[in-house]
Amino acid sequence: MQTSRRLFLKLLATTAISRGLLNAVQAAPHQKTFASGDALERGDHRFALISDLNGPYGSTLYSPTVARGLDLISELQPDLVLCAGDMVAGQKISLTDSQLEAMWSSFQSTILNPLLQQGIGMIPTMGNHDASSQKGASQYVFARERHQAERFWERQKSRLGLEFIDAKQYPFQFSVQQPGLFVVVIDASSAKVDRAQRQWLEQALASESRSSDDCCVVMGHLPLTAISQGRDRAGECIEDAMHLTDLMQRHRVDLYLSGHHHAWYPGELKGQRLLSLGAMGNGPRRLLGTQRTSDPSLTLLDLFPATKTVLETTFSLKTLEPISLNSLPKQLSSKSFPTLDRRETSWSYGS
Ligand SMILES: [Fe+2]
Repeated sequence: MQTSRRLFLKLLATTAISRGLLNAVQAAPHQKTFASGDALERGDHRFALISDLNGPYGSTLYSPTVARGLDLISELQPDLVLCAGDMVAGQKISLTDSQLEAMWSSFQSTILNPLLQQGIGMIPTMGNHDASSQKGASQYVFARERHQAERFWERQKSRLGLEFIDAKQYPFQFSVQQPGLFVVVIDASSAKVDRAQRQWLEQALASESRSSDDCCVVMGHLPLTAISQGRDRAGECIEDAMHLTDLMQRHRVDLYLSGHHHAWYPGELKGQRLLSLGAMGNGPRRLLGTQRTSDPSLTLLDLFPATKTVLETTFSLKTLEPISLNSLPKQLSSKSFPTLDRRETSWSYGS
């Protein structure tokens, strides 16, 4: 245990050195100092990005990688966790209300409360397993699940440590402003992000509360294009994504953050910066065109407002090592979706 922890800390430091980020001699008070005396430089604002925690349908249990991820978050002490969805294991008509309540209750005691007790808030996003927006005959197919999710998150709203800007349709779509960060959450819990929501997104991004000094993130569960094998098909990516991509570029969105494809990939789609998060829990997938299953992972975002720069570090929850960007293919292509180019994980934000 001690040996593997030392190894992890050493690897963390080694990666930081290779990126030229490390001052190993004297860590500033805001830096995390490790057993070796080295430090991973901490941004003035630090965010942990997680997604896809759920187990099999109806399960109230979380996999060991979720527990490992929570331990890592405790170690890294972010200001806030951004969760791109699939926190419980719904999307099954036969699940009863009491089963749905039990799953949310387990999420609260296993995930949310331990974070809040450390002073780490959370921005949630509804995934298809939480509150799918899929419709049939103009009705929500999973209306009960949406109702349960809404009830649960309404009860948590004042505990999350968030400064809401527009929360009229919380928890499905809302905007928040946190120090250094402006986040708009959209309901991409199915492939349909309708015209009304796109108009709302446009208004939310044009908010007077948004500062040009903020890093602007839009977060939705489904991605804008295909990332992983088995998910490169209709229903698994947002429809008419190029319209949404144009909209985000027009409004200078720094990052679109998604889950659902269970594979980490920092990409660029026609000039728009995207980040597909790995699964924290079960079911990691293979990236398009690759043979190896992605590791479960979480991503750390450090913000440096003085230089308006961001550094992303993604940790494998199998090895607890940072994953090398060079281990990812330079491009993801599929027959039916736009090609995605790999991008750098250190970038500038704001206007
Ligand atoms: Fe999903």
